[in-house]
Amino acid sequence: MNESTLAPEVLEYYDRGGEVTRLTASATGRLEFLRTQDILRRLIGPEPASVLDVGGGTGIHSGWLAADGHAVTLIDPVASQVAIAAKLPGVDARIGDARDLPVAEASFDVVLLMGPLYHLQTTAERVAALAEARRAVRPGGLVAAAVIGRFAPWLDALRWDLFQREGATGLLDHVAATGELRPRENGLRDVFTTAYTHRPEQVAEEFAAAGMAAEVYAVEGAAWLPDTLAALLDDDSSRVRLMSGLRDFEREASLLGASSHLLGAARVA
Ligand SMILES: C[S@@+](CC[C@H](N)C(=O)[O-])C[C@H]1O[C@@H](n2cnc3c(N)ncnc32)[C@H](O)[C@@H]1O
Repeated sequence: MNESTLAPEVLEYYDRGGEVTRLTASATGRLEFLRTQDILRRLIGPEPASVLDVGGGTGIHSGWLAADGHAVTLIDPVASQVAIAAKLPGVDARIGDARDLPVAEASFDVVLLMGPLYHLQTTAERVAALAEARRAVRPGGLVAAAVIGRFAPWLDALRWDLFQREGATGLLDHVAATGELRPRENGLRDVFTTAYTHRPEQVAEEFAAAGMAAEVYAVEGAAWLPDTLAALLDDDSSRVRLMSGLRDFEREASLLGASSHLLGAARVA
C-alpha cells in the first residue's frame, strides 16, 4: 500500500507539513506531547526496545524514542513526512499503511499507532489496523493506540466560541451522532481534516475485536480546556503539579470523555 490509499483531503492535509510543529507550537500540542511521552515512557519501561511507530508522521515521537535508546522504525503513508522522519538520528523511516504493515510477524517489542486510527473511518478498518499491530508485536509486547475523543470537537468549539460559525452546528451534530468529523462537507476547510472520533468505551471494544485487552488512558484529561494552560506549562512547579494530577486521574472513567485524546494500551499474550 502507499499514500494513494489515503483520502485525498487527508493526504493534502499532511502534505502541508504541519506535523513538524503541531506538538510544539500551541499549549494544547505541548500538553499532548508531554502526556503522551509520560504515558509511553512508563508503559515501555527503561530497557532498550524495538519500537514500530505506525503513522509516525514526521517523527515527533520516533525522535525522542530513539534518543531514549530504543531501535525505532517509523511507518507512514505520506511520503513527504517519511522523508522528514528519515533524517532523524536512529530512525528507520518507511512508507506503509497501518492496515497492511510491511513487517514480519512478532518482530517488535512495541507497536504504536499514534494517529492512524484518527483517519480510518470504519470499525472494520480500525480493527484491521489493530490486528496488524498485534501481528507485528512479539508475545508479551505492547500495543498502544491513540484516538481523538468524541466530545473534543464540541469542547473545542466551546473553547474558541465557534458555535455561531457557519457550518459549525452541522459539523458538531454529525460528529456527536456518528463519530465522523467531515469538515469539508460542512464548508469548514480550515478545520483539521476528515477524521473519526471515539467514545471512551469504543477504544477497549476495538482492541477486543482485534484480540487484545486494553487499558484506556486520558491523554490531556480536561487540562487542554483552560486559557491558562500555556502559563501552567511555562512555570516549572505548576507544570509538575499539572502532570502529577493528570497522571493520578488518567484512568478515571468519569473523566475520559473530557479528554481531547485517549490512549489504549494492551500487553499481547
Ligand atoms: C495527527 S498525525 C500524528 C502523527 C504523530 N504520530 C503524532 O502523534 O503526532 C496522524 C498520522 O497518521 C498517519 N496516517 C493516516 N492514515 C494512516 C494509515 N492508514 N496508516 C498509517 N498511518 C496513517 C498520517 O499520515 C499522519 O502522519
